[in-house]
Amino acid sequence: MSDLYPVKPEFGARARINKDAYQRLYRESIENPEAFWAKAAERLDWFRKPTVIKDVSYKLEDFRIRWFADGELNASVNCLDRHLATRGDKTAILFEPDDPSAPARKVTYRQLHERVCKLGNALRNLGVGKGDRVTIYLPMIPDAVVAMLACARIGAIHSVVFGGFAPNSIADRVADCGSKLIITADEGLRGGRRIPLKANVDAALKLPGTQSVETVLVVRHTGGAVDMQAPRDRWFHDVVDGQPAECEPERMNAEDPLFILYTSGSTGKPKGVLHTTGGYLLYASYTHEAIFDLREDDIYWCTADVGWVTGHSYIVYGPLANGATALVFEGVPNYPTVSRFWEVVDRHKVTIFYTAPTAIRALMREGEAPVKKTSRASLRLLGTVGEPINPEAWRWYYEVVGDGRCPIVDTWWQTETGGILISPLPGATDLKPGSATLPFFGVRPALVDANGQLLEGAAEGNLVLLDSWPGQMRTVYGDHQRFIDTYFRTYPGVYFTGDGCRRDEDGYYWITGRVDDVINVSGHRIGTAEVESALVAHPKVAEAAVVGFPHDIKGQGIYAYVTLKAGEQPSEELQKELVAWVRKEIGPIATPDHLQWAPALPKTRSGKIMRRILRKIAENQPDQLGDTSTLADPSVVETLVNERKVR
Ligand code: WTA
Repeated sequence: MSDLYPVKPEFGARARINKDAYQRLYRESIENPEAFWAKAAERLDWFRKPTVIKDVSYKLEDFRIRWFADGELNASVNCLDRHLATRGDKTAILFEPDDPSAPARKVTYRQLHERVCKLGNALRNLGVGKGDRVTIYLPMIPDAVVAMLACARIGAIHSVVFGGFAPNSIADRVADCGSKLIITADEGLRGGRRIPLKANVDAALKLPGTQSVETVLVVRHTGGAVDMQAPRDRWFHDVVDGQPAECEPERMNAEDPLFILYTSGSTGKPKGVLHTTGGYLLYASYTHEAIFDLREDDIYWCTADVGWVTGHSYIVYGPLANGATALVFEGVPNYPTVSRFWEVVDRHKVTIFYTAPTAIRALMREGEAPVKKTSRASLRLLGTVGEPINPEAWRWYYEVVGDGRCPIVDTWWQTETGGILISPLPGATDLKPGSATLPFFGVRPALVDANGQLLEGAAEGNLVLLDSWPGQMRTVYGDHQRFIDTYFRTYPGVYFTGDGCRRDEDGYYWITGRVDDVINVSGHRIGTAEVESALVAHPKVAEAAVVGFPHDIKGQGIYAYVTLKAGEQPSEELQKELVAWVRKEIGPIATPDHLQWAPALPKTRSGKIMRRILRKIAENQPDQLGDTSTLADPSVVETLVNERKVR
């Protein structure tokens, strides 16, 4: 069923971009990308305006991706300094703490500028300079934004690590990029629970490979007790408060790195996705303004965490480059009650609300009453990101949360893409529940079959992008070959997204989910290989295979098959122990939902695990195993089917 929600005339009439403008600008952006992006680049403040606009080749023998390559700018200047004259007293960050009875705080652009400058100076005094890596492991508090922008100001490359990651995951990320300094807090607060951030950093820094870290700056947030180890550990306020309120911004080339953000892929350890300064900032700010139809007086709230790319592009860089007021929320959707989101909307008169389908589904399960007891009259636009939204959840979001008034922008993109690539523009695009609809300016999506043949018209296949856009990642930190192999080798000449997708007769795109070994759990990417290597690190485990399965709330859940070492006995305790082990090794987001003992795993005669079969068993479709003739030992499958956890 493909029902259509046409652009509302009232919305279209006031919108920045209407139907005609979208079509005209899209055509221009494809026919003459140089001219289009040269003009778009005027939205940023440059120390030196770029004259070289696009310099891209996806050919493997002559590979390069460069945008605005002779331009010079500083991201923090674009997010702060240039607003001071006209927006100095405008609220840049509205902070809503975890505890609703604690006071909300406002940080104006002038105050944010001062805090960023002070931290920038402090970092320089601590020996951090252009090109050095800084790991940020903070809760969702204004200082997380300050930390990112202070790095940008002095040209240091930040690597934000999500506060839910465990010490091992922190250590891997610190070791991979050789961070010199970590910025953390005593503790985080989420739904009334304390998260021992500093203690996690302490544990991480005991692990091998982390000796590059010279300094740990600790924000006093909850006041909880921490173990300060001199001279390594310093209180943030001690080194920052006395600093001068002006800090000379570093002149950065457009192609100088802005940040690294680790994300899971189908193989090996998470990779450090590297974004550069000019193209990324331009793309984040342009998409934010156009897709959220930004107005000067909007109160904009994206519920993501700065530990993910959505937080980078659509809490920090996009909104602040645009001079917007961005709400930063420390808490969770169901604390103290499941009305929290809507109460925050009412308290701060939020006009634009951007969240993940998993949150919508979880709140939908609680019924309409917790929503309907709030007003939400301030809302004018809703958005979703992170995973496909099922039409049922879309309609609930539209009818119940938005009272049928607010368009929904279903935004498809990836850590690698820096910003949104496929999404409605609310004043230009008729909506279809469940479809991310049409490409943004300059974006050329296409579908290919398994052999790389381009598919025309209405079709289903693998989603690729035929050409570059400014926000595209430039490399995997420290491993350029992995970058090329991962994204440009599967289908030579195009960027492969890892997503499956359908295009309908109107040219609308419907993302169907990952086609590689990445599981999307509540909008968070987990590599099956990561969970498997955590499991086999346990002394009793011989082998493990991990797959995703459909989950009502999370979108996908994690299903692990475990073979124990000879002589080890399966037991309920051991099962619990292994689940807890994965939490401890990676972090709570990687917790397996199901763990099934596998006397053996289904393998081909050459020893390759047949994941397709494991996936079908986890999906409770044992009658659709497909061709099993290449199995070395078919009886293995029968046992797994009979003992499957989902029925
Ligand atoms: C999925 C998050 C359907 C997709 C910004 C992609 C989506 C992966 C959508 C990237 C959407 C993201 N509809 N699927 N609107 N948005 N995805 O890197 O599978 O955390 O490849 O970036 O999430 O996840 P990542």
